Parts: sequence; structure tokens; C-alpha cells
Amino acid sequence: MTRSPLPVRPDLESMAPYVSPQMPARYRMNTNETPYPPPERLVEEVAEQIKKVALNRYPDRDATDLFAAIAGHVSWPKEGLWVANGSNEIFMHLFLAFGGPERTTVLFEPTYAVHSLIPRIANTKVLQLQRGRDFTIDVDAALETIERESPEVVIVCSPNNPTGMCEPLDVTTALIENSPGIVVVDEAYIEFTDESKSVRRLLDTHENLVLVKTFSKAWRLAGVRIGYMLASPSLIEALARVRLPYHLSAITQLVGVAAIRHAHETLDLTRAIALERDRIADGLDRAGIVSYPSDANFVLFEVDDPERVWTDLLAHGVLVRNYQGNERLARCLRVTAGLPDETDAFLDALREVVG
Ligand SMILES: Cc1ncc(COP(=O)(O)O)c(C=O)c1O
Repeated sequence: MTRSPLPVRPDLESMAPYVSPQMPARYRMNTNETPYPPPERLVEEVAEQIKKVALNRYPDRDATDLFAAIAGHVSWPKEGLWVANGSNEIFMHLFLAFGGPERTTVLFEPTYAVHSLIPRIANTKVLQLQRGRDFTIDVDAALETIERESPEVVIVCSPNNPTGMCEPLDVTTALIENSPGIVVVDEAYIEFTDESKSVRRLLDTHENLVLVKTFSKAWRLAGVRIGYMLASPSLIEALARVRLPYHLSAITQLVGVAAIRHAHETLDLTRAIALERDRIADGLDRAGIVSYPSDANFVLFEVDDPERVWTDLLAHGVLVRNYQGNERLARCLRVTAGLPDETDAFLDALREVVG
């Protein structure tokens, strides 16, 4: 029997899967995690509690304790909270509920690749507006596009990955107030800067605002996969329809609650990491290398021959992020800030590599 080709959706054919190399290196400074493991007491507590979990039973479908813990921590009603396996899954739920055929999302490139990947997976049209040369958003052009295209979803990344800066609140406010649909602000890295730059305070007054956060960066729990969003309760109801039953495992729920219990200790290192970020920026400046200002735990910088520099840095044990094939970032590399030793190793290696 001759088989016909696999019936894969035609719109998926031109799409590439998400890749970010995971390879062994002494200094892993490429994926913006925190090199510090979570506090020992948190890990011990979790290890104790896992022994008591009925692993043969489905977990609490509504993750009641985890929702209550996060809602309390952020002082926002639990009816306006949604939790998922990393903020990537939050985006997946958002686009299953608000995206789809005949629907449009607007975002501002260069930005986090997953923000355009997920709407495409959900068969949503993606309009990629280009940031200016300094990587800021052209508000007038954005508002014009929003008026013309009436997108169901606008995505803002603040601080923006990989360029580093927070979006000024007046820019985000203009986008929110002039969008017919929802505006999703991804604040994965906000803990590394002054929290007055957060859109959190706009939540009370703007019903179409969605604030997305993650436990993968400042919370030091990338391996656990927890992300959450805050929005108006009516918006949350839509997400409950698209999630898989029991989407948060018993272990995820338990670790999340423990993390909130140890929030203070866990988040204590964000300032030290921000200082390493500034030390990296300073070191790059002294070496005559252009870098972009950052509110996050990483720095984007420019070199003449990024492929060679990336390979040579790796030969020195330093793994950074490269952007091969991305025209807007053709001269750029991105390095994650973490331990003082890592900063030293990176700057020493870079000085050797670029001469
Ligand atoms: C802007 C941004 N949002 C979200 C994520 C991923 O979050 P999570 O691990 O919660 O899925 C990243 C990871 O690099 C990111 O850069």
C-alpha cells in the first residue's frame, strides 16, 4: 500500500522547533537561569514532603494551596490568578483561548522567540513590528498597526529578552488603552530591576492587561516549571476551558508552595546578580565593546564576528547565547549574569578572544 504523506497541518511545515543549545560548559551563561540553587531549607522541606505525596492519585486539579500561596504573595485575588508549567505554558493557554485562525497577535522584534512560536502553534497570524535601532518601540507605528489590524493579543516583553530594557510605563499604557483585545506583558526578569517599572499597578484599572511572571529566573526554579499570570477574573475563566485536566503535578504544586514560604530567602540574591550584570556591562565598556543597557540578569553586546567569538569563548569554557540567522541581532551575543566567578571568567576569556 502506498501511504500518502503524513497529514501534518500545512501551516506547521515552515516552522522550526525552538532551539537553544544545551551543552556542557564550565560556565553556563546562555539561558538566563540563576546559577544559585534554591535555598537548602526549601530543598530539604520539599524532599520531606515528597515522601508523603500519594503519587498513585491525581493531584488537586485546582492546585488550591498553590493558588492561595501565590495570590497571598502578590496580593491579588485568586480568581484573577492562573498558574501553569512555566510561563511558556501560560502563553500556550492564552493563545488556545484568545488566538486561532482569523486572529492576530502583534509583538515587537527582536524579542523572546517563544512569543511568536506559540501563537503560530495555535495557528494565529503573527505581526512582527520592528523595534528601532536602539531597540525601543515606535509607539506611533504600533498604535497605527493596532488600529488597522485590531489584534486580539499584543505582547510586550519587559524587560525585553534579549535587548534588556524595561518598556517605559507610558508606552505600555498607551498600548493597553488603545488595544481592542488583551495586552500581555511578560515580566520574567522584573525582579532584577526597580519594581516601580512593573505594570503591576496598572492591573487594578486596566481590565485587558495580563501580567505574566515566572519562577524560572529570580526564583531559581527553572527545573520545576512554574509560571503564573495576573488578570481580571473574567479573563481567567477562559483559560480554565483550555488547560489539560490535572495540568500541575503534585510535585510542582508542593514546590511552588514551599517557594512562596521561602520567598524572602529565595529572592535575596537578585541584587547580587544585578551587581554582576553591571560589572559585566562595565567590563565590556572598558574593553571597548558596545553593550545595551539592561534591567534584567543578562547583557546583550556586539562583536564583529559573533560566530567565531562564540566558539572561542566556548573553548575557554564559557557558553553564551548567539543569534545565528537573526538579521537584527547579526552582530550580537548575550551573556547571563550570575556568580562573581562567572563574570571574571567571561570577561577574561572575552578579552583574550577579541584581543
Ligand atoms: C521573556 C521570557 N519569558 C519567559 C521565559 C521562560 O519562562 P518559563 O521558564 O517560565 O517558561 C523566558 C526564558 O528565557 C523569557 O526570556
